[in-house]
Amino acid sequence: MPPLPNPFRPTAGATPPELIGRQGMLDEFEYGLRLGSGAPGLLTIITGARGIGKTALLSEALEKARQQGWIVISETATPGFLGRIGETMRLHLEVLGPGPAGRRITALGVAGFTVTTQLPPELQVDWRRLGEQLLNVLAEKKTGLLFTVDEIHSADRTELSQLAADVQHFIRDGLPIGLIFAGLPAAVSDLLNEGVATFLRRAERIDLHAATINEVERSYEDTFRRAGIRIHKEQIRRAAEAAGGYPFLIQLIGYQLWRQAEINDLTVEAENVTQAIAAASRRHEMTV
Ligand SMILES: Nc1ncnc2c1ncn2[C@@H]1O[C@H](COP(=O)(O)OP(=O)(O)OP(=O)(O)O)[C@@H](O)[C@H]1O
Ligand SMILES: [Mg+2]
Repeated sequence: MPPLPNPFRPTAGATPPELIGRQGMLDEFEYGLRLGSGAPGLLTIITGARGIGKTALLSEALEKARQQGWIVISETATPGFLGRIGETMRLHLEVLGPGPAGRRITALGVAGFTVTTQLPPELQVDWRRLGEQLLNVLAEKKTGLLFTVDEIHSADRTELSQLAADVQHFIRDGLPIGLIFAGLPAAVSDLLNEGVATFLRRAERIDLHAATINEVERSYEDTFRRAGIRIHKEQIRRAAEAAGGYPFLIQLIGYQLWRQAEINDLTVEAENVTQAIAAASRRHEMTV
């Protein structure tokens, strides 16, 4: 039997075989999706150190939203992100049209959001109306709209406060909107303290930490067992301890263990674990 493809993903932003230790957040978020509007899980800021798994968690959350039929607009907070969100909203509304909403928007002449970084006042008004129209169409369909914005520590302050103001407005109107941000902790705290968007202080704040050794051990065990790879419990423990609960290292070591299994007839012995840990550590030193 040929071995399965290596499921581990030691690459920034890539989705790992299992998102260890994040079930609580995801449950809260899914609960919010079912309520549709105004639930705490729908307004969330994810913070955490480099490589701790912010982007991977964002991806998982947006996948859940898509599965529930929500429209997801996923952006990174580089200059012009607000305009790009506006442009994407317009495209969605066109596709969902050709109802009255679609026609009204053409009448507004909304276009060209992406040309500018900071939206001039007329486009700000259009942006909000566009959002309202799209959200009303989605509310009728019993679904909603989720914005995810990664790397908000580098966001332009004006764009961010504009987005926050509009989203607050949508929430107040009971529209089915979700907003998840991710960024580095210190910079996000600065943003919130500067009063860029006061209402964001009331967002659910999730500070990501390393997984526990036990969780990693259990996850490795499941992943290898399901692939028919044989490895003793003490060896799994060694590998989990070497990863130390740090998501990027969990992926690096898992990836190397899998490669050892491939060259050793789907069996991982003590010597293979030693080599996997050594290879992973070398890679890790190169990348941090
Ligand atoms: N909960 C998790 N369990 C196991 N592996 C994870 C988990 N979260 C992320 N990973 C893995 O860890 C690595 C880093 O994840 P990710 O890129 O999401 O981190 P990040 O916090 O966004 O980093 P950065 O600050 O550099 O953007 C990836 O290889 C990813 O597959
Ligand atoms: Mg990231």
